[in-house]
Amino acid sequence: MIPVARPAVGEEEAEAVRKVIESGMLAQGEQVLEFERRFARYVGSRHAVATSSGTAALHLALLACGIRRGDEVITTPFTFIATANAVLYCGAKPVFADIDGRTFNVRPEEIERRITPRTRAVLVVHLYGHPCDMAEISEVCREHGLMLIEDACQAHGAAYRGRRVGSFGDAACFSFYPTKNMTTGEGGMVTTSREDVAERVRLLREHGAKRRYEHEVLGYNYRMTDIAAAMGLVQLRKLDEMNERRRENAKVLTDELEGVEGVETPFVKPGVTHVFHQYTVRCRSRERLTEVLEREGIGYGIHYPTPVHRQELYRRLGYSRLSLPEAERASREVLSLPVHPTLRREEVERVAEVVKRAAGR
Ligand SMILES: Cc1ncc(COP(=O)(O)O)c(C=O)c1O
Repeated sequence: MIPVARPAVGEEEAEAVRKVIESGMLAQGEQVLEFERRFARYVGSRHAVATSSGTAALHLALLACGIRRGDEVITTPFTFIATANAVLYCGAKPVFADIDGRTFNVRPEEIERRITPRTRAVLVVHLYGHPCDMAEISEVCREHGLMLIEDACQAHGAAYRGRRVGSFGDAACFSFYPTKNMTTGEGGMVTTSREDVAERVRLLREHGAKRRYEHEVLGYNYRMTDIAAAMGLVQLRKLDEMNERRRENAKVLTDELEGVEGVETPFVKPGVTHVFHQYTVRCRSRERLTEVLEREGIGYGIHYPTPVHRQELYRRLGYSRLSLPEAERASREVLSLPVHPTLRREEVERVAEVVKRAAGR
């Protein structure tokens, strides 16, 4: 079996975690502080604040940017549901803008079209590790006085015109779930260069208290443990190398699959560094392809079979008549193949060969 994802963790992570356990200091402490310092430096932001998950990071980033009841936040319908749900947690309304059919990322023109007097922020997702059009999107936000928040949960190390994602918006969010480009088991991070946003995220992560048992506002327990941070420090050191492996694997797949009938390989825009969280193709007959992959013991993923506005929750919230043709078409056609860094060369070649054979029939 070739799995679609496998965390690249081993002895080094185990050793780092063992040291924390032996120290007896398990909750948020020195390891978290060090992880935050190094992560901020890596991304190129002034601050980084670790959280218990990517979802928690999104929730706190939106709150810290002042998003509240009655506000509208423009985002993509083609993402993991956490992106849009974080807007709902704030009592605000997600407004969905359609995607670019080549990169699967939200289109700047579609964002602009959806702006109303209630719009407060734009929440973009660098889907599959491919950065969004940050120059155009930043310009739209600047012109209309909107906050810009990046969901970089799938894009650790990705870059746009040489600058790492997570450093563009008023705030950005990362996830360290086991399938991500780097992991802490569960975990997340908010990066920002705004002192006020960083301070607010820290306050809200800690039940609204700067000092123990003195609670200024309604907050949460969204802290990361030192156990997770110790793992994160090791993973961060390996991130560039792991991303390089992903890119190499993606190149092998694309070299083999380019031009194959019925399969469209991932598009990479000039000027971006794509970190291939997912290697996602479009296919004409997904059912037939997945049948063969299953038979041949090759894992795959469908990211995502239902766009957010078509989910039951969102239908009930009044989105059932919304039509976003590119996102809907993508959800019917996309298929993610194994690309993770622990794959052996023969495994990548086998994936390509099976897809080629199945698509050619
Ligand atoms: C685009 C996107 N946003 C948000 C999340 C939520 O992150 P987490 O699972 O760490 O809460 C994920 C990952 O699961 C994601 O892929």
